[in-house]
Amino acid sequence: MTIDGEDQLEGLKAIGTVVADVLQAMGQALEPGMTTRELDDLGRLLLEREGAQSAPELCYGFPGATCISVNEEVAHGIPGDRVIKAGDLVNIDVSAEMNGLFADTGASFAVAPAKPAVERLCRDGRRALTQGIRAVKAGAPLSGIGRNVERFAIKGGYTLIRNLASHGVGRSLHEEPGSIPTWNEPRDRRRITDGLVFTIEPFLSTGGEWAEEADDGWTLLTQPGVFTVQYEHTLVATRRGATIVTRPSQLEEAR
Ligand code: CO
Ligand code: CO
Repeated sequence: MTIDGEDQLEGLKAIGTVVADVLQAMGQALEPGMTTRELDDLGRLLLEREGAQSAPELCYGFPGATCISVNEEVAHGIPGDRVIKAGDLVNIDVSAEMNGLFADTGASFAVAPAKPAVERLCRDGRRALTQGIRAVKAGAPLSGIGRNVERFAIKGGYTLIRNLASHGVGRSLHEEPGSIPTWNEPRDRRRITDGLVFTIEPFLSTGGEWAEEADDGWTLLTQPGVFTVQYEHTLVATRRGATIVTRPSQLEEAR
């Protein structure tokens, strides 16, 4: 969607704060021994308390309130009986609707004690997102996002998953513009328009380039032994740059 007024921006920030707060609370609750279903139950409770509805459930009938993906699972993992262990890399993706507006956020968490390489990947995944956001400005080429992210990834010796793109959001979970690449795609001639609402969510990996659908019809997997992180914000493009709408109401201490 394209923002057409202060009220709409406030509404979007309201649901943006909700999903960011839920993501933060789930990340803080994450600990070895709990199942991904228990973690999802917390997410559902917190969304309901705010009067928000899970977007994947609402839009796609996804069997969970949030997507929780562990290790070789890259995205769209179904919450269930899987027990979280120390050293696991857990991605939590929270998207929801409130008053007709949608916001989408996600983050990966290394469950302590984690390998130094996984800690480093998490740190750099956040940086990759920041690099993408820096390319956002009304009038700028959409492909600048992927160009920035890929330059950063190559410098760090990482790969990017190339079949999971970012997307327009706002009136629905996924809308136009579709398939916003977070890898270099110079043939993409689209430009960022003023007030455009979309996500940036690069998937930075230690070797993966493609995510395959699992037999459950939802979960997206890479080859075993490869670690992948995703950090995602919903933002609004302005003439001065990006306005991030999925910021938590309270800043978390560095972890
Ligand atoms: Co998401
Ligand atoms: Co998304």
